[in-house]
Amino acid sequence: MAYAFRVSKNPAEFLQALTQAASRLMAGGLVAFPTETVYGLGANAEDEAGVKRIYLAKNRPADHPLIVHIAHPSDLDHFASAVPDYANDLMRDFWPGPMTLILPRTKNAKDFITGNQETVGLRIPNHPVALALLLAYKNQGGHGIAAPSANRYGSVSPTDAKAVETELGDHLDADDMILDGGTSEVGLESTIIDCTGLSPKILRPGAITAEMIEGSTSMVVADPSTNSIRVSGSHAKHYSPKARVIVGSEAQAGEGFIALSDHPTPIGAIRLAEPSNNDEFAAVLYSALRAADEQNLNVVHVLPPEGDGIAIAIRDRIQRAAAG
Ligand code: TXA
Ligand code: MG
Repeated sequence: MAYAFRVSKNPAEFLQALTQAASRLMAGGLVAFPTETVYGLGANAEDEAGVKRIYLAKNRPADHPLIVHIAHPSDLDHFASAVPDYANDLMRDFWPGPMTLILPRTKNAKDFITGNQETVGLRIPNHPVALALLLAYKNQGGHGIAAPSANRYGSVSPTDAKAVETELGDHLDADDMILDGGTSEVGLESTIIDCTGLSPKILRPGAITAEMIEGSTSMVVADPSTNSIRVSGSHAKHYSPKARVIVGSEAQAGEGFIALSDHPTPIGAIRLAEPSNNDEFAAVLYSALRAADEQNLNVVHVLPPEGDGIAIAIRDRIQRAAAG
């Protein structure tokens, strides 16, 4: 069982916790940490034994590639090569932020990170604790922190430290760490953009939308349905609670219900969230799905928001939660 460490606002204690966590990573240990999207389960991206422990803790198939988190765009060259101009535009506009770029790898991005592919996924998260951890880690000689979402394979991504403890507490060692940095603001995983072609291609929708990418790069974004690159999040069933997720508003008495606040709760249903806009919907979706399990509900009905922007990512996650 690992211990959850609430990161102190006291500067000296803050620095001490981050230095300790960075040392833990350098020693081959695991550190779960907050990002603005969801919590990640981190290991030294260049330490095969440490990365293997991520797969064991998550029960994740070994050929699924991991995102490498870096501190600064200048750290990108260590892991990636042949960066197209449009990827530089995206980095300038959206890093640090909820965006992962898939780029051709260097020899430092080993098969155990890339799932034997010739590409690597990179991201600079926008969260003060994640950025401070990445800097402390860099000061100790580290280059990148490999971190998938800190949940068991196929289950709902954690958006707070308590959810990490629930998911992985039994699968971490005593000196692994869970850094508690509050609730993730975005609440859905990063937008993944394939930057290996002539123009950007979205592999997983997120808070950085197609319109934003087109605005940044002045390019047309390729249709996500045409991709052949393996993305674990694109498997049919993912992000699923134990409760059965049904898309729609026909909740019966005793069943869970999640919808925008202007949709009334069906009689007898248990309202798990009533976000007043789409950003809020994204931020509370995963904790509401978790709440269904905490309350031992068998069924939860989710009414997806309409429209573009982040609503596309919300619908994507709801559909996957309901698949299978
Ligand atoms: O917001 C996020 O991206 C969070 C936080 C912790 O940064 N991380 C996250 O990691 O969602 P994970 O492992 O749960 O999802 C990463 C996705 C997987 O679907 C994986 O297949 C894909 O990124 N991916 C990673 N490297 C890739 C590559 N080289 N080519 C294609 N897909 C890749
Ligand atoms: Mg995940």
